[in-house]
Amino acid sequence: MSEELKTSKIPREDYEQLIDPYKEAMTRLEVRINGLNEDYRKKYRDYPIHNVQARIKSKKSIEHKLIRRELEVSAYSAKDNLTDIAGIRVICYFIEDIYTILSLIKEQTDLLVLKENDYINYPKPSGYKSYHMVMGVPVYRVDGMQYYPVEIQFRTLSMDLWASMEHRICYKDETSEETLYAFRHYASELSEMERRMKQLLTETRRENPKEPMV
Ligand code: GTP
Ligand code: MG
Repeated sequence: MSEELKTSKIPREDYEQLIDPYKEAMTRLEVRINGLNEDYRKKYRDYPIHNVQARIKSKKSIEHKLIRRELEVSAYSAKDNLTDIAGIRVICYFIEDIYTILSLIKEQTDLLVLKENDYINYPKPSGYKSYHMVMGVPVYRVDGMQYYPVEIQFRTLSMDLWASMEHRICYKDETSEETLYAFRHYASELSEMERRMKQLLTETRRENPKEPMV
């Protein structure tokens, strides 16, 4: 990689202009997801989502990712090559909740599903689990409509605990075999714990079907 590429930067003004429509797309999708959760709660007295987080990729992370992929470092190149400039993380209680909310989102006729990766049924070798989906969200400007990609990561609370810790401790760095092994082990322990908690919920509901809404 050339020295010039390694140190290239996107001008601040270009970055601000680049992220503007992504912010709008992200907010629209976040509002929609929260609306679906609220509606579902009213209809079924159940709430699949624990919380939703949203973030726009920082200028530095965009530059790093383009450099890592040996691509030109510019706002144009970011728009052409990256689908995670806008990102939403949907944290659910249990795996079943993820599939519930996923199917609700897929029914939204104005949104496009651009890409899906099921790392729940097919976890990464590290033990990482999450369901990734890139959605195309329409953004209207004076010169017309364009779809902007927003990456959604659906995780259960336990998958999020695992990923946050692993990201802090090992992700993309030199990590010892023992630590990597430990994390693979934690991934299966957490899944088992989650499965048992789901069983407890099912039993509690059976005994007390009129569980109050939170
Ligand atoms: P990135 O360049 O990391 O964005 O990867 P990608 O664009 O090829 O997509 P991928 O689906 O592999 O990962 C997208 C995102 O998922 C990452 O930015 C992380 O937030 C998360 N992720 C993927 N793999 C792991 C992992 O092994 N550990 C953790 N903690 N997070 C991961
Ligand atoms: Mg990413």
